[in-house]
Amino acid sequence: MDTVKKIDVLRSRLKEASRNGKSVGLVPTMGFLHEGHLSLIKRAREENDLLVVSLFVNPTQFGPGEDLESYPRDLEKDADSCSAEGADILFAPDAGEMYFEDYGTYVEVSGGLTKGLCGKSRPTHFRGVTSVVSKLFNIVEPDRAYFGQKDAQQVAVIKRMVRDLNFDVEIVVCPIVREADGLAKSSRNIYLSEVERKAALVLNRSLKAASERISSGERNGDEIKAMVENMIKQEPLSAIDYVEVVDAENMKPLEILKGSVLLALAVRFGKARLIDNIRLEVE
Ligand code: PAF
Repeated sequence: MDTVKKIDVLRSRLKEASRNGKSVGLVPTMGFLHEGHLSLIKRAREENDLLVVSLFVNPTQFGPGEDLESYPRDLEKDADSCSAEGADILFAPDAGEMYFEDYGTYVEVSGGLTKGLCGKSRPTHFRGVTSVVSKLFNIVEPDRAYFGQKDAQQVAVIKRMVRDLNFDVEIVVCPIVREADGLAKSSRNIYLSEVERKAALVLNRSLKAASERISSGERNGDEIKAMVENMIKQEPLSAIDYVEVVDAENMKPLEILKGSVLLALAVRFGKARLIDNIRLEVE
């Protein structure tokens, strides 16, 4: 596996691959890879001739006061993991390679899709995500790109961008990977102290309880939301950012549960802001 830092070097490697008719898979990441990322890399490895993993802590998706500086980084370990999973290229540009000093072009999905849930407390986040992902799509021109269901809103926003801007790429969504005790894998779990980590198990517990209640017939979105909020509030170390019950495709709040339902939440435990969700098909 080669680690490539320059866009023109990556492009010439990819041109050669496309001349030879090879399919290209892209797994965009911000590094500090965990088993969630590795599941995307494994799937992409199976489905493509050439596999590029990008590793870039994208400054434009962090708001003021967020954890851009402290975001965990371990390039050496990530390179070893990508190599062990059979990636062909690790694309790890510096910020200066991706953004000129006077950079000023952004791709933004407007409307409700980016305003609620994470968009409410992180108003510039999705603009940063869609801008960097479209740059990566332009640089790599992948046939397929892989994202995790844990970032359910991000997936919906990227799918909308791909549709609206006619990107010729298939978006592949892979299931959430959890620790044995149910905590969703996240690079930000490293911020949790031992007690906070234990407290954070309430997230998966409350999503499961909500799912069971829906399975037994509850269809009122507010009831489900209130139930999850109440369970989380039992944990004194938690601070809820949001709990929402929405349509899984357009992120609109649902009063009555029907169709593809996403129960999504973001909760802080100390320095860590954790997101998690469950998607259900409801009759
Ligand atoms: O999900 C992430 O890690 C990031 O938002 C992404 C898609 C790599 C863009 O920086």
